[in-house]
Amino acid sequence: MTELKKMNKEFENNNVRGPINSWFFYTISGYMDVLWGKSKKELFQDHSGTVVEIGPGAGANMRYLKRGTKLIAIEPNIHMHKNLRKTAKKYGIHLYIKSITGETIDLPDSSVDFVMSTLVLCTVDNPLQCVNQIKRILKPTGQFVFIEHVKARENSILGFIQNLIHKPWHWFFEGCHTNRDTASLLESAGFSSIVMDKYNHYSPFIPIIPQIRGRAVK
Ligand SMILES: C[S@@+](CC[C@H](N)C(=O)[O-])C[C@H]1O[C@@H](n2cnc3c(N)ncnc32)[C@H](O)[C@@H]1O
Repeated sequence: MTELKKMNKEFENNNVRGPINSWFFYTISGYMDVLWGKSKKELFQDHSGTVVEIGPGAGANMRYLKRGTKLIAIEPNIHMHKNLRKTAKKYGIHLYIKSITGETIDLPDSSVDFVMSTLVLCTVDNPLQCVNQIKRILKPTGQFVFIEHVKARENSILGFIQNLIHKPWHWFFEGCHTNRDTASLLESAGFSSIVMDKYNHYSPFIPIIPQIRGRAVK
């Protein structure tokens, strides 16, 4: 076990919730396109030929990548892998899966042009460690693009709903925090530049309002 792995909890694959979540994220990928397609097209449009994605799940973001893109998928949940491969085949993506966490990425320093992640920093066990790993592997001009759901304002109705639902949501979605302050984490992570929108995008998934989307440069 490497030093880095020792610093973080290992990802626990769950044989019941894992396959259910894999099915869920595969099945709703079309609806996620309705919710976030426009933002994702803008964020991913200038991606490089090789892309690293943290927590790609069932592959909802592959439809926005150019055919022939090499995608290095950092996906510790082995139950996602079958759907990930199926989606890669559908969109002509050259997929390389690494069953490791975003906190323990084993790619070399300053080696990657483009890292993306959507709805993942809410779930990783140690988001700061994960963001530090993303920064470490990015080339000096490399970009990290993201969409995340974040903690609502204190004493707001959305905040109340997030806190109320947190426990069962966290259990069902294998570690997702409805009320994590990912916006502050990213702002103070030490990127040389970061552009971030914070917005309320209303949908039936009320606990995951508000959201942030943006682009950070190492
Ligand atoms: C809510 S799903 C989002 C999936 C996909 N990004 C999407 O937008 O549909 C969260 C994903 O993060 C993955 N994940 C959980 N913990 C992780 C970690 N420590 N490092 C990397 N990925 C992780 C999960 O296995 C899951 O695929």
